[in-house]
Amino acid sequence: MAVVDSQGTIRSSVVLSQVDVHAAFGGVVPEIASREHLKAINPLYRLALGEAGVDLSEIDLIAVTMGPGLIGSLLVGLCMAKSLSYFSSIPIVGVDHVKAHIFSVFLEREVDFPFVALVVSGGHTVLFEVNDFVSISALGHTRDDAAGEAFDKVAKFLGLGYPGGEAIDRCAARGDPRFMDFPRAMIREKNFDYSFSGLKTAVVTTVKQRGIDFVRENIDHICASFQEAVIDVLVEKALGAAISKGIGRLVIAGGVAANSRLRTKLGERAQDEGVELFVPPVAYCTDNALMIAYLGGKMFERGIASDLSLNAYANVRY
Ligand code: KG4
Ligand code: ZN
Repeated sequence: MAVVDSQGTIRSSVVLSQVDVHAAFGGVVPEIASREHLKAINPLYRLALGEAGVDLSEIDLIAVTMGPGLIGSLLVGLCMAKSLSYFSSIPIVGVDHVKAHIFSVFLEREVDFPFVALVVSGGHTVLFEVNDFVSISALGHTRDDAAGEAFDKVAKFLGLGYPGGEAIDRCAARGDPRFMDFPRAMIREKNFDYSFSGLKTAVVTTVKQRGIDFVRENIDHICASFQEAVIDVLVEKALGAAISKGIGRLVIAGGVAANSRLRTKLGERAQDEGVELFVPPVAYCTDNALMIAYLGGKMFERGIASDLSLNAYANVRY
């Protein structure tokens, strides 16, 4: 939950992570996620308004995530937002959370339109051309696993726990990325699509062949080699999209945009190619309500609003 004012100034932002609850299961359990949302939503609402020092009567707009994501969790947020809108007559706008990720960078600084955006998270890997807050078109996406999903699955397989992106990032920082040569799927193909499931299988197969002692002794190198393969494809395809569209600005966003190696390598390669790179602060890369509030506000300024028939969606094709 977050409160943002009309200048985009952050008045409050409270993020409740359920990672500890789900870690024991090695991944998110949808039913538990919905129940945890239900338990947390009222206290978080009071906390967000309290920290911002505002009363509901001072709120001009309610922005809420309508998808994509786990339907049970989405419905909890949507019911709360619709109830607040109904009894207080505050307008409501439904926001797509993957598109909201794009604008997490705007919480710190604005970027001129048009730009290319790579949203790379646990559920999505999408390249967008962004011409305005309400004019966003997909250039390409992953054909199978999202990059974050590949991080999480490989981390789980290597015994690094859940969620795995951060753990792999930490191990990889101590490892040699040239230790193993993993596939960089579709890197030379003249499209803006990705594929990560073959890479995940390659890691699992190679590691199984070499045995548990090999993994224990070389965990940092395996992580670094896997991570480098993911990042090489993300970097080259995102830059390729910006260059081929003749757009000199690139934004990255989503949980995997917190990855330290991606931030460094993309920074270097963007400079080589003369593309200006915009990266959100790490704290705004993973899911948060600030980006929802920000994009919701911009949509509303452009005349977009929802009504109480607003519904959640689990998946969408961009
Ligand atoms: O955007 P996000 O919070 O949720 C989704 O919309 O999916 O992204 C979560 C994903 C997870 O897969 C997590 O492993 C990954 O972001 N992630 C990272 C890092 N921090 C989070 N992946 C690589 N390196 C990181 N430092
Ligand atoms: Zn997300």
